[in-house]
Amino acid sequence: MKFFIDTANLDEIKEAYDLGVLDGVTTNPSLMAKEGISGDEKVRAHYKAICDIVDDNVSAEVIATDFDGMIKEGKELAKIDNKIVVKVPMTKDGVKAIKYFHNEGIRTNCTLVFSSGQAILAAKAGATFVSPFIGRLDDISYDGLELIEQIVHIYDNYGYATQVLAASVRHSMHLIKCAELGADVVTCPLKVITGLLKHPLTDSGLAQFLADHAKAAGK
Ligand code: E4P
Repeated sequence: MKFFIDTANLDEIKEAYDLGVLDGVTTNPSLMAKEGISGDEKVRAHYKAICDIVDDNVSAEVIATDFDGMIKEGKELAKIDNKIVVKVPMTKDGVKAIKYFHNEGIRTNCTLVFSSGQAILAAKAGATFVSPFIGRLDDISYDGLELIEQIVHIYDNYGYATQVLAASVRHSMHLIKCAELGADVVTCPLKVITGLLKHPLTDSGLAQFLADHAKAAGK
């Protein structure tokens, strides 16, 4: 399973990359705004800075909502670096744009997916990644993990090449359950990844090993 970090914060991206387990980054307009990044030039420079940190898979979202606008913007984003994946919303024009980018050899991440029907459309259009938002479904009393299970099952039935990218992942158990269900990728905040490190028996075991070592060394 690939790990993407869901942030536009360069320090967090560096920290996750230095851990040695990072496969990519997802951003969205809200995450870019949180970092105070706005205006074409600054946005482009920020995406380039992210691409310079990681090895591949940097999702950059289009703001346009009409087909022509998405194509124009997506092409500009793709020119920034060959690590860019153009993020396109699950709308009628978005599906058309994904098909267009697929034919042009430009990778896409179909975002804001909340049903298996939407995921089928994304795969048929040739999306590289489909992003079901599990946390936002949980927030409104739908089962986000059940959606991951359904999409993985459907894609397996037909051998769709689109990778299931579990998004809106809020905690480490979400990540572990996505792995059990066969999601290809999870994208999450840094704390969800570092949360995997934690176990009280690791901490107490290490403390004991170090104490025994010190005792034997007469310290
Ligand atoms: C995915 O690409 C989105 O950026 C993200 O996972 C949304 O997560 P949120 O629901 O925590 O905002």
